[in-house]
Amino acid sequence: MDFLEIAKSRYSVRDYKSKKVEPEKLEKILLAAQAAPTAVNLQPVRLIVVQEDEGLNRIAKAANIYGAPLAIIVCSEHTKAWVRPFDNKNTVDIDASILTDHMMLEATELGLGSVWICYFKPDIIRREFQLPDTLEPINILALGYAEGNPADPERHTTQRIPLNELVYYEKL
Ligand SMILES: Cc1cc2nc3c(=O)[nH]c(=O)nc-3n(C[C@H](O)[C@H](O)[C@H](O)COP(=O)(O)O)c2cc1C
Repeated sequence: MDFLEIAKSRYSVRDYKSKKVEPEKLEKILLAAQAAPTAVNLQPVRLIVVQEDEGLNRIAKAANIYGAPLAIIVCSEHTKAWVRPFDNKNTVDIDASILTDHMMLEATELGLGSVWICYFKPDIIRREFQLPDTLEPINILALGYAEGNPADPERHTTQRIPLNELVYYEKL
């Protein structure tokens, strides 16, 4: 698949088979995360891979991961991230999200489903995974083999705003 095909065929999977994700596929997903850029290459992101029942049960206290057999908690360290000097914007969320997106699209290429989750209780994740105060859980990426029919790769023509609303050339 070329990149645009991968991007168009990805969809949020909210029902998974119980089949585990193979270690070789997980490794490729993690290598995609490693390849992701971060501001000034400061790499403030840390990933917690959860695939054992005990860990999945702990995540379930904080989030609905739709029965996925694998979840990656994407965390960032605020003090390690780049801060833009003009307005003190900290890029921690951006860095974490680029890694998340790289992993999500690599998963699609490998035939896996995924859903990006921000609707979780961060304090519970912190407690259950004993995160230090400096590390913030930003995203959870749930992964596995999708149950049911895939979404139509051409759905974006109706489910996204048109390009002429999204894109402006030279001025807004
Ligand atoms: C930052 C972000 C947070 C999201 N949080 C959740 C979530 O907590 N739960 C969920 O089911 N989907 C979540 N999603 C998935 C979006 O709802 C989904 O991507 C969007 O509706 C478009 O659908 P599609 O992914 O099938 O193209 C999130 C997506 C993004 C990018």
